[in-house]
Amino acid sequence: MIKKLDDPKTLVRQEAYEDLLYFDERAIPKLIKALKNKNRRIRCYAAGLLGELGGEHVIQSLTPILNDKDKRTREVASESIESIKKTLKLKDQHTIKVSLQKKDMQQTESRKKDHVELVIAKGAQYAKTSGFERVDFIHNALPEISLSSVDLSTKFLGKSIRYPLLITGMTGGYSDAEKINRGLAAAAQKHSIAFGVGSQRAMIEKPELAKTYKVRDVAPDIPLLANIGGFQLKKYSFGQIDSLVQTIEADALAVHLNPLQEVIQPEGDTDFTGVLGAISATCDKLSVPVLVKETGAGISQETAIKLKEAGAKWLDVSGAGGTSWSKVEYLRYLKNAGVHGFEDWGIPTVEAIIQCRGVLPLIASGGVRSGIDGAKAIALGADLCGAAYPFIKALRAKSLEQSLGVFEKQMQICAYLTGSKTIEELKKAKMRIN
Ligand SMILES: Cc1cc2nc3c(=O)[nH]c(=O)nc-3n(C[C@H](O)[C@H](O)[C@H](O)COP(=O)(O)O)c2cc1C
Repeated sequence: MIKKLDDPKTLVRQEAYEDLLYFDERAIPKLIKALKNKNRRIRCYAAGLLGELGGEHVIQSLTPILNDKDKRTREVASESIESIKKTLKLKDQHTIKVSLQKKDMQQTESRKKDHVELVIAKGAQYAKTSGFERVDFIHNALPEISLSSVDLSTKFLGKSIRYPLLITGMTGGYSDAEKINRGLAAAAQKHSIAFGVGSQRAMIEKPELAKTYKVRDVAPDIPLLANIGGFQLKKYSFGQIDSLVQTIEADALAVHLNPLQEVIQPEGDTDFTGVLGAISATCDKLSVPVLVKETGAGISQETAIKLKEAGAKWLDVSGAGGTSWSKVEYLRYLKNAGVHGFEDWGIPTVEAIIQCRGVLPLIASGGVRSGIDGAKAIALGADLCGAAYPFIKALRAKSLEQSLGVFEKQMQICAYLTGSKTIEELKKAKMRIN
């Protein structure tokens, strides 16, 4: 049969290629080679057969054929790519369903794993933007400082950091999460920035999971944030909440508000009555400061004032324009998710910063995707910027160190080009909102 692939008669060659199909994926290299055949019919035929066999790397080989000089070959290659993409999507959805059905994992643990894997694989980002593209620094053509003199170091939770960045809380509570938290925390320590673990609800339910959040041995010096949902403050005792902070030796407790996400989850908590009171009680008793954060839908001025009165010491606006938690849940539950239509719900980050600045010390996260966005957030009134999605993606791609380096450089250059030597001067840099 292999010999027939080089037969001078087109028909014989076609038959041989068709036979290759029965040899499953092992036929793929031969067919990919055939995409370069001088004979347009062979190229066309191979493109069609590759569509049947599929696989992500086949898409890569078929992509150049979209520019083939033969029209029919181009069409067939395009159809094959579409068909492979469809199959991959179905497989993906199946994998997610299977992961959801795993009975041996507690629901909380499996949910955290699904979230991380879905966000990394699918992005699940807002369609609307955080608004940073509408904000420009007024360029200073005569900065009268040197780039090397820029120093963006600041204090956060009583500790010094080299530049004003927090890797916001994402995960914990399952075996891979331990590696993720330790990887993020070690990089944060190396870059001297702040880090937060994800929701510690799983370790209340299963104390043996505490090790998946413990990072002090790799991050001894940086500001470290514990994390729990506002809803859980109602449910668990003060002792249980306090132990979340003590166990991981955190400098503050981040309390996350996520009514949007919960309302989309079929098993979500949809009674937020009493959450403000529970935050207030926690702020009264806890020995470390409480920071209240959203999870991507933003905080308004009215809410910020209530949180200040409740005793919160910091806010993270976590506005819309970055990771969309309703989108994540829609992806997770596919057709069984709650009411659709809330993919783009939320206050964009820039608007949330403008609403909340001056109320409490502020962290700006939600769609902060570069040090330039971060510097704009500082100039708009935040004290620190933060991000989640770009850093978990970079960790998985083994490029976290590089990403953090670029982020810092971008912030420094923004300071330089506005003539700002320090974070205090950057806060006063002139801006234009388009
Ligand atoms: C994979 C993932 C998991 C998250 N889990 C948590 C969490 O457990 N607790 C929390 O407060 N926020 C959580 N968040 C929200 C982030 O901390 C952040 O507020 C939000 O994603 C907006 O930032 P981004 O646009 O940079 O992702 C998570 C975000 C991601 C991407």
